[in-house]
Amino acid sequence: MAAGEPPHRDAGGQDPAMSGAALAEGHVAVVTGGGSGIGRALAIRLAQLGMRIAVVDLKREAAEATVAALPHPARGRAFAADVADAGAMRRCAEAVSAAFGPVNLLCNNAGILRAGTAWTTSESDWALTLGINVRGVVNGLAAFVPGMIDAGKPARILNTASIGGLCPAPGVASYIASKYAVVGLTETLRDELAAGGHDHIGVSLLCPGGVATDIWQGANDAGRPSDRLARDVLQAMSAPRPDQASAEGIAGLAVEAMLAGRFWIVAAQPSLHGRIAERHRAISEAIGRDSPGLYG
Ligand SMILES: NC(=O)c1ccc[n+]([C@@H]2O[C@H](COP(=O)([O-])OP(=O)(O)OC[C@H]3O[C@@H](n4cnc5c(N)ncnc54)[C@H](O)[C@@H]3O)[C@@H](O)[C@H]2O)c1
Repeated sequence: MAAGEPPHRDAGGQDPAMSGAALAEGHVAVVTGGGSGIGRALAIRLAQLGMRIAVVDLKREAAEATVAALPHPARGRAFAADVADAGAMRRCAEAVSAAFGPVNLLCNNAGILRAGTAWTTSESDWALTLGINVRGVVNGLAAFVPGMIDAGKPARILNTASIGGLCPAPGVASYIASKYAVVGLTETLRDELAAGGHDHIGVSLLCPGGVATDIWQGANDAGRPSDRLARDVLQAMSAPRPDQASAEGIAGLAVEAMLAGRFWIVAAQPSLHGRIAERHRAISEAIGRDSPGLYG
């Protein structure tokens, strides 16, 4: 680390000393957006480890359906809350702690997607997408992390970004912006916990490529985008696609990676691998080319 730089964990982000400790039998996991897709699959996979699960969702009935699908429904509980509402998330954290005690695993997973380019996405879609996908994660952290710090017990935070947080995708500008934000926020969170000496709290960042869930249906239900590019993308992505992972496969990967104490959890369809490598190469090349002479 260079002089003057704040302390940070290894960018590889492995924290093997804590691997798995937060995910033990009887420990408590919170999963936002647990009523559908990846969140629902995560809740079920974590329950299979014997964890007690707080399923948080905007839709109470969906959260309750996930609890009913857990291997031991009595060890789960549904909580209705809007992650974009800081007050609702604080009240949710109080209710979870009253029901279960200290939280060991926080999965900030709830997210939505809206189609639209960088210049045609409506103000309301920007507000909704950033409110849920970015502020939702921030609100989850603000509501639960102080309790994790105070409890001093093994804990972990899993933030769900996307492969769209590591490479651009035309036609979903607000989603991509929100997921790049979650990547930066989560890397910073990891370094801040390390700098604060909170080594009992591990961090993992989930960046999946396409996953067969209801997320594109939600974008469709929101109506027709005003521009053609976004309409075409919405149509193409909403159709059944052979290159999608299953929610169960992604949840299984995430749990395995958390048990091993990994920070980066990145799984994407092969067509994206080269694009991400090329982006990283171009950034490294730019740093080498543009820095000399400017920083002493
Ligand atoms: N499906 C994919 O291709 C894909 C790929 C990469 C990342 N992701 C991310 O995975 C996460 C889960 O998405 P999914 O694909 O399972 O979608 P999904 O639509 O199947 O599930 C999302 C869940 O979040 C809930 N939710 C939405 N807004 C909420 C709010 N304001 N407060 C609380 N709950 C809310 C919904 O009710 C739903 O139950 C999202 O963050 C998404 O961006 C999805």
